[in-house]
Amino acid sequence: MCGIVGIISEKEVSPLLLDAIRRLEYRGYDSVGMVCIHQNKLSARKDAGKIAEVDAKLDFSSLKGAIGLAHSRWATHGGVTRANAHPHYDCKQNIALVHNGIVENYDELKKELQQRGHSFSSDTDTEVIAHLIEENEADDILDATRKALHRLEGSYAIGVISTKNADELIAARKESPLVIGIGDRENFIASDIPAILPFTKKVIFLENGEIARLTREKVEVFGLDGIPKKKTIVAIDWDAKQAEKQGYPHFMLKEIFEQPFSISETIGERMSEQDILLDKEIQGAVPNPMEIKRLIIVACGTSWHAGLIGEFMLEELAKIPTEVEYASEFRYRDPIIPDGTAVIAISQSGETADTIAALREAKKKGAKVIAVVNVEGSTIARESDSVLFTHAGPEIGVASTKAFTSQLTMLYLLTVYLAEHRGILPQDQIRNRIRDLRKIPHQVQEIVENQESIKELAELFFRHTNALYLGRGINYPIALEGALKLKEVSYLHAEGYPAAEMKHGPIALIDEKMPVVVIATKDTRTYTKVLSNIAEVKARGGIVIAIASAGDNEIKEKVDHVLYIPENSYILTPLLAAVPLQLFAYYVAVLDGKDPDKPVNLAKSVTVE
Ligand code: AGP
Repeated sequence: MCGIVGIISEKEVSPLLLDAIRRLEYRGYDSVGMVCIHQNKLSARKDAGKIAEVDAKLDFSSLKGAIGLAHSRWATHGGVTRANAHPHYDCKQNIALVHNGIVENYDELKKELQQRGHSFSSDTDTEVIAHLIEENEADDILDATRKALHRLEGSYAIGVISTKNADELIAARKESPLVIGIGDRENFIASDIPAILPFTKKVIFLENGEIARLTREKVEVFGLDGIPKKKTIVAIDWDAKQAEKQGYPHFMLKEIFEQPFSISETIGERMSEQDILLDKEIQGAVPNPMEIKRLIIVACGTSWHAGLIGEFMLEELAKIPTEVEYASEFRYRDPIIPDGTAVIAISQSGETADTIAALREAKKKGAKVIAVVNVEGSTIARESDSVLFTHAGPEIGVASTKAFTSQLTMLYLLTVYLAEHRGILPQDQIRNRIRDLRKIPHQVQEIVENQESIKELAELFFRHTNALYLGRGINYPIALEGALKLKEVSYLHAEGYPAAEMKHGPIALIDEKMPVVVIATKDTRTYTKVLSNIAEVKARGGIVIAIASAGDNEIKEKVDHVLYIPENSYILTPLLAAVPLQLFAYYVAVLDGKDPDKPVNLAKSVTVE
């Protein structure tokens, strides 16, 4: 949730830290701080507010020093105040620390430390770590930190510097992400890869319970028992440019527009004219597709919506009974996972705490796990039996857009692969399914190129306070996703519903002020039923915006506004219907003066429960 960075270099690090922490602002943006060691003293600046505002006031780049830490906060313990912003210190201000995670036993530790004379300057859970390190100040900073970490319950990714070991940067993690970047006579730590992409593409992924010492020359990794560990340096194939706005006013818009490309990247080399080529990627979890009896999909938020669409695809085309679970609920039940069940964990970040816990629960019960993940090296990717990377590139906008359509693409590829290998779909149908998917990037391109009508619609509706989204069948989750996008970035109250359920309750809300977005694409199963639902809304004065199939001229007579999407097979319509709803949410937010990249209270990666 918070973002942390640390750099040890031969040059001044504050401009680099500022650049890196800006790239992590999507993880948390209520406060920001930076600390460097200069002339053997800690020199720090911090305050509540967004990075640009605080930097304008405090001028972070003027901090001197060749070693330092920075932090962007998403408050968990303690209000949004200067005192609670990171870094935090020990009593003597020799040690500075930044932290992402939650120290669950901080209350008890704080009392204990206070009894021993430590005085606290903040209400955060984090500060206890600095004081615990101070308790072992006779040791070098690595050992002092290692000992302190033994006392912590909960999660942490930390960066620590100390004036007593001014040429060492200490990093450690447990359940919160942390990556180490390897540079040329400089080394880095960060919560996420995009932060350090401009400096290096060589990284080491720190595992739970590992602690690292970074000097300018080298990186050493140890277990919490102090035993050295051998780590692999991984080359990252993301480009620093991908993590920049490239002329777009917001990451969200850039990422919506990137979808033709990101979907193509997900497809990559995974399709020939007549085959889906997933054998190698899937083998670890599914050596024999015939043996799968049941699938359980676990995910949160937008990824959960992708899972609902995946369920539809997998049952319809591959004929595998599939259930979709909120990861946060799955982990706290005692789920029954019979033999022959495989679990699919879907996550953009690969670091969502609830999805990680659900994955571990599934593995504990003997299930094999397939991850559908965007971020390489992430915890979910590392802990799963097979990983299907979505290859959407870094997604910085807090509201997930391109990651979602890439997840849908990946789930479709997996479905057709399983359908083929279980002998469910004949070869000619496999070919047709492949041909359908090939059309999608161009069709998404068509939608984003014709965004004017969506913008105009947003102009009509940005002052409304509520909206209802309706869809049926495979497009019901698109109603949920459309409503979530609007809520997240514009703060309007929006609800997604299965269209037929409307008459069982939400119909009470409909009047001439209520915009109702209906996914009403032409298909043989639900189209006429959806038209009836539209008629029910119109009969009560509601304003209907339809997402309809190109060429459906009759629908114009039945609704107030239409946004057309190109035609493709029914099972692929969610990939197209999602896009105008993303753009609509984006423009409503922007017209209403909101920053869609930094929605209030949200964080991109939810690494706490
Ligand atoms: C999407 O717009 C949200 N920001 C959120 O619901 C997100 O999808 C959810 O937190 C899951 O994240 P993940 O895909 O990284 O696991």
